Amino acid sequence: MIDKIKEHITDVKAFNATTKEEIENFRIKYLGKKGILNGFFAEFKNVPNEQKKDFGQTVNELKTAAQEKVDELKERLDSLEEEKGVYGDLSRPSEPLEIGSRHPISIVKNQIIEIFSNIGFNVSEGSEIEDDWHNFTALNLPEYHPARDMQDTFFIQTDPDILLRTHTSSVQVRYMEDNKPPIRTISPGRVFRNEAISARSHCIFHQVEGLYIDKNVSFADLKQTLLYFTKQLFGKSKIRLRPSYFPFTEPSAELDIYWGLETETDYRITKGTGWLEILGCGMVDPNVLKNCNIDPKEYSGFAFGMGIERIAMLLYQIGDIRMFYENDVRFLEQFKSSI
Ligand code: PHE
Repeated sequence: MIDKIKEHITDVKAFNATTKEEIENFRIKYLGKKGILNGFFAEFKNVPNEQKKDFGQTVNELKTAAQEKVDELKERLDSLEEEKGVYGDLSRPSEPLEIGSRHPISIVKNQIIEIFSNIGFNVSEGSEIEDDWHNFTALNLPEYHPARDMQDTFFIQTDPDILLRTHTSSVQVRYMEDNKPPIRTISPGRVFRNEAISARSHCIFHQVEGLYIDKNVSFADLKQTLLYFTKQLFGKSKIRLRPSYFPFTEPSAELDIYWGLETETDYRITKGTGWLEILGCGMVDPNVLKNCNIDPKEYSGFAFGMGIERIAMLLYQIGDIRMFYENDVRFLEQFKSSI
């Protein structure tokens, strides 16, 4: 009899099934009320005493083997079904993937690039660490020139010749040194000024500067280019140019756009005038052209420069410049955009 049980154990261990019914039939066959196991248990009383121990152990072995087999097969079937559930219906909606968002500074920068590239400007970039020549001297700002104070500068270690660029005009100098006119380029990038951090200014910010050099470029070209730009970016077509001063342009001007006085915010940001200052600009000073090996008798040009943060603050009505650098996802998430 023990041999018979052992045969069953071998059978049980070798058994395999792929459907619920097969497993259930197997379970009933061995573990059911009228199953094989109960048959052996009923037999127990007839087993001679000296064999009882062996018999009992072997029947128990069979019972454990049968139970384990049922559990194992069920588990396998469940996980197979689960997989089928995952891959089965391919028309079901996919898992929602969280899409990131561009930083508002990048969005506005890309918009500005797009507007100018539509009228033939290319993009030029340069390094954030500059030398004195490209950031100052070539731009008509010789050493001890009082206008250097306009741009509080971070120097690298103790070398007064190496600094963090205070504007991307340095890129324009490099571009003029390396390229012959006609030149139409805009230079976006990060700049640094040793200024106290507040809601309105930061020691690190971003600029886009533009440069156009060719024969017979006039102030009227500058004005029309900027008018086109303000229409595209702000949807505003009333501008004015106020005389100003920059060492690298002559004449120099500041561009204001008429923002309007419709809301309380308009009153606040325009200080009640309706006008907003957007950028600095002017005709490139002949000295700058000379410094970059361009003949000022043959060529003329205009340049302009603007702060991206300031424009982003206007477009998105952001009250504090520090928001741009805190990387708070609750702030950044609001700028999901396609550009
Ligand atoms: N480089 C100037 C600045 O950083 C901006 C500017 C550029 C002004 C070109 C005039 C012409 O403030």
